[in-house]
Amino acid sequence: MSVPLVFDGKVVIVTGAGGGLGREYALAFGVRGASVVVNDLGGDIKGGGKSSNAADKVVEEIKAKGGKAVANYDSVEDGEKLIQTALDAFGRIDIVVNNAGILRDRSFGRTSDLDWDLIHRVHLRGSFMVTRAAWNHMKKQKFGRIIMTSSAAGIYGNFGQANYSAAKLGLLGLANTLAIEGQKYNIHCNTIAPTAGSRLTETVMPPVLCESLKAEYVAPLVLWLSHDQCQENGGLFEVGAGWIGKLRWERSQGRIVRKKNQGMFPETVRDQWDNICDFTNATKPANINESVATLVEVLSRVETDEGIAPNPTSAMATAASGISPLEAVGQKLPESTFSYSQTQCILYALGVGMSTKDDDHLKFLYEGHEDFSCLPTFGVIPSQAAMMDGGLGSVPGLNFDFTRLLHGEQYLELFQPLPTSGMCAHYRSISENNIFCLQKPVIENNLSAFAGTLTSQARIADVLDKGSGAVILLDVHTYSGKELLCYNQYSLFIVGAGGFGGKRTSDKAMSTVAHPNRSPDAVMTDTTTRDQAALYRLSGDWNPLHIDPSFAAMGGFKSPILHGLCSFGFAARHVLKQYANNDASRFKSIKVRFVKPVLPGQSLQTEMWKEGNRIHIQCKVKESGAVVLSGAYVDLHAAADGSPQILPEAGGLKSELVFAEIGRRIKDLGAEMVKKVNAVFGWEITKGGNTAAQWTIDLKTGAGALHKGPYSGKTDVTITVSDDDFMEVVQGKLNPQKAFFAGKLKVRGNIMLSQKLEVILKDYAKL
Ligand code: NAI
Repeated sequence: MSVPLVFDGKVVIVTGAGGGLGREYALAFGVRGASVVVNDLGGDIKGGGKSSNAADKVVEEIKAKGGKAVANYDSVEDGEKLIQTALDAFGRIDIVVNNAGILRDRSFGRTSDLDWDLIHRVHLRGSFMVTRAAWNHMKKQKFGRIIMTSSAAGIYGNFGQANYSAAKLGLLGLANTLAIEGQKYNIHCNTIAPTAGSRLTETVMPPVLCESLKAEYVAPLVLWLSHDQCQENGGLFEVGAGWIGKLRWERSQGRIVRKKNQGMFPETVRDQWDNICDFTNATKPANINESVATLVEVLSRVETDEGIAPNPTSAMATAASGISPLEAVGQKLPESTFSYSQTQCILYALGVGMSTKDDDHLKFLYEGHEDFSCLPTFGVIPSQAAMMDGGLGSVPGLNFDFTRLLHGEQYLELFQPLPTSGMCAHYRSISENNIFCLQKPVIENNLSAFAGTLTSQARIADVLDKGSGAVILLDVHTYSGKELLCYNQYSLFIVGAGGFGGKRTSDKAMSTVAHPNRSPDAVMTDTTTRDQAALYRLSGDWNPLHIDPSFAAMGGFKSPILHGLCSFGFAARHVLKQYANNDASRFKSIKVRFVKPVLPGQSLQTEMWKEGNRIHIQCKVKESGAVVLSGAYVDLHAAADGSPQILPEAGGLKSELVFAEIGRRIKDLGAEMVKKVNAVFGWEITKGGNTAAQWTIDLKTGAGALHKGPYSGKTDVTITVSDDDFMEVVQGKLNPQKAFFAGKLKVRGNIMLSQKLEVILKDYAKL
C-alpha cells in the first residue's frame, strides 16, 4: 500500500451511524483523522421509536480510539439540524454519507400508504434534506463528497420491496443530477449498493452469510469515494464480501420503425421487436447529450429515407485489439488545471532555443522588457497536463500498450495572445494599468476571483484505423476563466493497434498540407545545444526518453532524443521572426507532422514558403538532410499596415472572428465543400435580443462564398442564435442539439441541413 488516505481537517456526517454499515463507516473515518458527526435516530427497523443510545455508543468508540466525534439524534428528515451539529461542533461540513434506512417489506398489493410514505421519507427525502442542507457550504468551499446508498433491490427489483426499490433507485436519479450540478464546484456524488450482514438483513439472510458479509468490507469503498484524491463522480457501485464492481447503462442499437411521410404503427414495433431488443454492438450512453444526439440523428435519417434501419450505423466497430471507437469517441478526460508565471514563459523560450545573443529574443527572455511576451507555441504546455496525468489510460475503449504510443501530429491555435502568466485577461488589465491604488479588499477580491489558473478540457475527437496502427485524435481546449485561450489537437499513433475495422480518415482531423512545389522563399537555421532536451523537459514533458540513456535504449534509440514539440517550437519561432517581426500577436495557428527524431546538438533548418498569411514549413536536420517536420504550416493574422491584427473590442461581435475563419476556409476548399454540401446557410447573430449581424454561407454556387449583411438570394436553412450562444457552441461548451431543444438556437427551413455544417465547419462551428 502506498500513501495512506487520511481525512485530517475534514468533517463527515454519517447518517444512521448507530449500527450496521453506518457505524463501520463512522469508525473508519474516525481513525483516519476526520471529525465525525454520528447521526442516528435510534429507532427500530420499521421506523418506530427513538433513542440516543446507538449514536452515543459509537461516539464513545471513536473517542476511545483517539478520534473526534459528536452525536446527533435527529431524524434525517430534519437535515438542517444534522448539518448544524457539524457546524457547531467542527465549523464545516465536507462529506455526507447518506446511509440511514429502514425496511417495511410487503408484497405490492398489501403495501399501505404508510409503508410507502415512511420508506420514501427516510431514504429519499431524508437524503435530499441532509444533502441540500450541506450543499451551499460545499459549494462555497469548492469541495464536497456525497454518498447515496442505493440497493440491489432498487437496481434489479426484489419481491416484497416495491416501496424500498422505488426509493432506492430514486436515490440514484438524485445522485446522477447532483454529480452534474456539483462537478464545477468539486462536489462529487456517487452511489453504492452494498450487501452486508446487519439487523436489516438478518431476517432475510442465513446467519452464517450474515456473519461472513461484514460491514468492514464495504467501508473502504465509501472512504475512497469520500476522499479529495478521488475524482469519481456520478458512479454507481455494487459492493460486498470484499468485491467492488461498477455499473453503467447499456442501450441496444435499436431500430428506426417509421418512414418519411408515413405513420408509425404498433405492428412495425412488433415485427422489429427482436431487433429493438438485440444487444449486439450495444452502446453505452454516458450522458443525456449522447441520448438526445441519437434522436437528432434519427430525425435526419428518416428525412433521408433511411427508415426501418439499425441505429446507429454498424460501422462503429468494437475492436478485438482493445480499441473501440464506439466507446472512446466523445469521452472526456478529467479536466486539468495549469498555473504558470513569467518564469515558465522564459524557461520555455530557452527550451526552444531562444538566446540573449539575438537582441530581438530579449522580449521573450526578460520580464522587464517593455514588450515582454510569451512565445505562442507555449500554448501546447497547459494542454499536455491532461495527458501527462495519465488521463488517456482511463478512457473506456482505449486499451493499448502505452509504450507503443507515438506523437504523430500536433495542431495549435490561439484565440488570443498568451498572457505571460496564467491569469485571466481581466486581472491582467487591472495589474497592467497599475490600478494598485484600489482599496486592498477590492484587489484581494479580484485575486481570489481569478486564481491564476488555466483549465484544459480534453476530449477524444476521433479514433482512426490506419492498419499498422490506430490514431487517436485528442482535442484539448484551454480556458483562462471563461475565455477560450487556445485549442490543441494531438494526433497520437499507437503502433500495432490497428486492424479493428474502423475508418481511415476523419473530418475532425486538422490536416497537414504539402508545401508549394518550388524552392523555399526563406531558410533559417539554429543549432540545438547538447542540453536542449534537458532544458525543454523542465517545461513539463518529463518523459525519460529525452534524458535517460538506458530508457532511450529500451525505445530503440542510440541516445536520448529531442522532444518533437521542441523542434516544433524552433520552427514556429523561425516563422515568427522571418514573417511577423517576432510579434506574438500575429500568430494564429500551427500544424506539424513529426517524421523523424532529432538529437540534441543537431542543427534544425526551417524551410519556409509564404502563401498569403499561410507560411508552409518543412524542418530538416542540417547535418543529415533528414526531414523531421513535414506537411507543416503556420497561419499568421493579417497585418494590413504592418500593425498586429486587433481582436474585436468589447461590444463587438465575438462571432466575427469565427466567420472570418469560415471565409478563409471557403477560399481554400470552397469547391470541395460545395460538392459535399450543396446548400445555402443563412445566419442571424443576435445581441441583446436584436439581430446584430447577418451572414450567408453559400455552399451551392460556384466555388462557394461568404456574404456579410442581408442576402438577396434564397437560403435553404437559416439559423438564429445569440453571439454568446454561438461562441459557446463553437467552443464546444454548449451542445448544439441541446441548444436547439432549449430554444437557444432557432432553425428555419431544412433543419436536416444544419447537420452538414458540422462536417464542413469542423471545430469552428459545431452546427
Ligand atoms: P441498520 O439498520 O443496521 O442501520 C440503519 C441505521 O439507520 C439504524 O441504526 C437506524 O437507527 C438508522 N435510522 C433509521 N431511520 C433513521 C432516521 N430517520 N434518521 C436517522 N437514522 C435513522 O442497516 P444497514 O444494513 O446498516 O443499512 C444501512 C443502509 O444500507 C440502509 O440505507 C440500507 O437500506 C442500505 N442497504 C443495506 C444492505 C445490506 O445488505 N445491509 C443492502 C442494501 C442497502
